[in-house]
Amino acid sequence: MTSMAMKASQEDFEKAKGQVKLLKEDPGNEVKLKLYALFKQATEGPCTSAKPGMFDFVNKAKWEAWNALGSLPKDTARQNYVDIVSSLVSSQSSSQEKTSSNDRKLEYETLVVTREDNITKIMLNRPSKKNAINMKMYNEIILALEAAEKDDSTLTVITGSGDYYSSGNDLSDSANMESGEIEKKIKDGAMLLRLFVDHFIDFPKPLVAVVNGPAVGISVTLLALFDIVYATDRATFHTPFIQLGQSPEACSSYTFPKIMGPVKASEILIFGKKLTAQEAYARGLITEVFPDSSFQKEVWTRLKAYSQLPPKAMSSSKQLIRSFEKETLHRINFEECTLLCERWRSDEFINAIVNFINRKSKL
Ligand code: COA
Repeated sequence: MTSMAMKASQEDFEKAKGQVKLLKEDPGNEVKLKLYALFKQATEGPCTSAKPGMFDFVNKAKWEAWNALGSLPKDTARQNYVDIVSSLVSSQSSSQEKTSSNDRKLEYETLVVTREDNITKIMLNRPSKKNAINMKMYNEIILALEAAEKDDSTLTVITGSGDYYSSGNDLSDSANMESGEIEKKIKDGAMLLRLFVDHFIDFPKPLVAVVNGPAVGISVTLLALFDIVYATDRATFHTPFIQLGQSPEACSSYTFPKIMGPVKASEILIFGKKLTAQEAYARGLITEVFPDSSFQKEVWTRLKAYSQLPPKAMSSSKQLIRSFEKETLHRINFEECTLLCERWRSDEFINAIVNFINRKSKL
């Protein structure tokens, strides 16, 4: 069934809103006006505001586009909005794929994405910042997952470059905010985080984490949404959310208690206990631990063998396994992002960021 035949839910609409911000190419003024008008119609109904003055060109054009929709029902406007965004996303990603199909290396600023031996490898590539995930990287991982979903590889792997897997959310992003834009940044940040995690919940092919070194924050919590997690014995797993005035994300408030039991999960998520690779293995968070000296060789040999398995059988089995909880995970993701918005407004969080920036607290 195509999206045209389905009725767009509020969730589809929210997702489309986030996707508009991620478009790589400007869709042009005409399309932007159409999207603006449909958005207003979907959220506020027919235009009732006064027409802007004739020299207020931009607002006049927006008003005219909205007013032209007359009494179009909110549901229909929402559906049209979702359809336009989905066609923009697919046309941009297919043109992106075409330009890169002869190239094994796709162009990203914060990632190195390669496709070889039926495996798409997404490597986080900010080694000097321990692969901290900034806004650009969140957006690029979303795009890389969307491309991997459509390419002909059978496995998708996420790993890190340098000595860390990832140091989690880039804390300096939160420090670089003008006071007037804080509320908008909080809302945009929560929307991006939700979209990011949604992509992991919905990813249709087997997803593998090759944890090449220490992992912090969201790079740990996300692991429960992977299908296989291999780690070097040098890796550690640390979620210092509370120390940073924050709360768990990436559905870990649900997946961690389920995987390891509530008291073990709380020790990590509430009290920030840092786990060794062996401890994380014992708690069921990772599939297998390898000696660091042979980690890359052993893991990639294993993955190359798995990548030869029948792809459709693998992806449909993965989808079946995940299907029973998808709705729940989307709901948890929404609730976690809502709580995080509150946390990001708190003094506890702001103080923690100031401390990080001043290097008073290295965790
Ligand atoms: N956000 C932003 N920058 C980060 C970062 C993060 N999460 N993690 C590391 N960096 C930066 C450091 O600021 C430093 O930048 P600089 O060279 O410009 O000063 C660089 O990466 C190297 O980190 P450094 O702290 O010097 O290395 P280290 O080996 O002493 O410590 C960590 C590594 C990851 C333990 C430490 O950087 C840290 O605690 N980072 C914060 C992790 C965190 O709390 N993440 C969020 C969880 S919710």
